[in-house]
Amino acid sequence: MVDVNDGHEADFLAVAREFSAVLARKEYGRADIVRDEASPMRFYAVRHWASAAAAEICHGDIEVQVLTARLFKIARVTHVVNGVQRHNPMRLLTDSNRMSQEPDRRTGFDRRRENLGRAEGDRRKAGPDRRLGPRRLRDRPGEIDLVAAARRAREHADAAFSHFKVGAALETADGTVVAGCNIENATYGLTMCAERVAMFKALSEGHRAFTRIAIVADTEAPTPPCGACRQVLWEFGGNLNVVLANLTDEKGMHELKDLLPLPFDARLL
Ligand code: THU
Repeated sequence: MVDVNDGHEADFLAVAREFSAVLARKEYGRADIVRDEASPMRFYAVRHWASAAAAEICHGDIEVQVLTARLFKIARVTHVVNGVQRHNPMRLLTDSNRMSQEPDRRTGFDRRRENLGRAEGDRRKAGPDRRLGPRRLRDRPGEIDLVAAARRAREHADAAFSHFKVGAALETADGTVVAGCNIENATYGLTMCAERVAMFKALSEGHRAFTRIAIVADTEAPTPPCGACRQVLWEFGGNLNVVLANLTDEKGMHELKDLLPLPFDARLL
């Protein structure tokens, strides 16, 4: 997100054009600029990298660094999105996310306002899908290497006290992957697990429907989510598939309803 300083719009557009040209010429990828309709000096600079390696090389490219330095003089830049989506050209042809979502999809605050449980609790007996939160929209198993994403996320873990590093990768219904790692704290109690970091990141970026989460630790026995994470995952993600893995192998898959039988959630309020 780029907030251009007053009087510098033309400079910014020139830098953006040069940046796009460099990306294309050096085959790093493609850059799009979208103006915010509500705030004319705000732009969204969207980058579609050819690959993760191309992105890394581009960041180290001196020509790009010169352009970035010019940009920083005339604008305030905030990195907004931190997700990864595997490029799939067929999706553009065959798939409209909006059209394929269920019409009764319940998201955001609606789930609290519209779907409170009844006193007699009848909906609780309705079927296997007992949760109130967003529904899983579809499964596309195998399309995204979620375990690899969780392993990468684990490398960022800040586990200075337990030395137990955990990575998580959450797949949203539209195929976005949002990763998280555990972040520890000198007070211990404020430590945040990888799974909740991933979920809160995803929610804060506007995602409301989820399909799977992968959890990775460097242990022979699989590391299942702690109780607090099960609760949060359930409330926001429903009956997720939970994939457990270590650094080399997958160690099993569970449905969250089996890890959290008899859950408490907003239907009971
Ligand atoms: N931890 C996670 O991040 N996820 C889990 O599923 C289990 C535990 C973290 C919390 C803490 O930083 C460390 O692992 C040891 O408990």
